[in-house]
Amino acid sequence: MQLKSKIVLFVMLFCYISAEEDMLPSFIKKCDFKDKELGSCIRKQIENSLSRFTKGIPELGVPSIDPVQLDDINIDGNGLKLKFADAAMHGLSDSKLTDLKVDIGSNEEDFNLGFKGNMSLTAKYSIDGKILILPIKGEGDALVKANNVEVNIQSKLVHVKDSKGRSHLKLISPNYKYDIQSTTFDLKNLFNGNKQLAETTLAFANDNWRQLMDDLAPPAIKQIVRTVIKAINKFFSKIPIAQMLDGYKDS
Ligand SMILES: *[C@@H]1O[C@H](CO)[C@@H](O)[C@H](O)[C@H]1NC(C)=O
Repeated sequence: MQLKSKIVLFVMLFCYISAEEDMLPSFIKKCDFKDKELGSCIRKQIENSLSRFTKGIPELGVPSIDPVQLDDINIDGNGLKLKFADAAMHGLSDSKLTDLKVDIGSNEEDFNLGFKGNMSLTAKYSIDGKILILPIKGEGDALVKANNVEVNIQSKLVHVKDSKGRSHLKLISPNYKYDIQSTTFDLKNLFNGNKQLAETTLAFANDNWRQLMDDLAPPAIKQIVRTVIKAINKFFSKIPIAQMLDGYKDS
């Protein structure tokens, strides 16, 4: 290749990369800031792009959040020691939007996001102690299926400037609550593989799933919310508001 064409190619490549940096991915369409129906336009864009978004946007450095890799969960209380390692939560990309409130004004607004889905958690577990009155002990692979997990996040949405003076959105101080309709536990190799004991105990654990989930869900959901917020903020940090909304002027 001649030097001249190399330079042209390089310049084209450079322009392409720097243009990508702060552009909306093609699966999201811009909304009009002055549109009276701005809220419903934003909602539609989020609904349409939710499953794509959860799989990550590599060109913007937004990581995939399905699965969400969880830190180890250690529970030690009420006579039960339970540990989950190498845990991953699957299912966010199939979850449905149940609530969305977003106002984009001049400075600080409220942001509500609700989603609902069937989630499953895979992990290496070890358990030792009692569930209510029944002894339980073992270690191996765990599969925890949680049905209709609904998470509602409430957050402040503020505007921050980047080094070029462009405004970006950012979620700060999120709060959340959650609800889980039902859960089933499949713990492989309970009691070193003693089948009869394992089946009876697992059936009991599943009848009393709330007892286990009261310990397990809070650290898991907390990490899910943190990961979701982080991914959204990564996206916001890459795309100036003016790139998301036609007619938006930086103040
Ligand atoms: C979860 O699964 C159940 C049973 O398959 C289904 O009825 C329900 O709609 C699912 N929930 C969501 C939020 O997809």
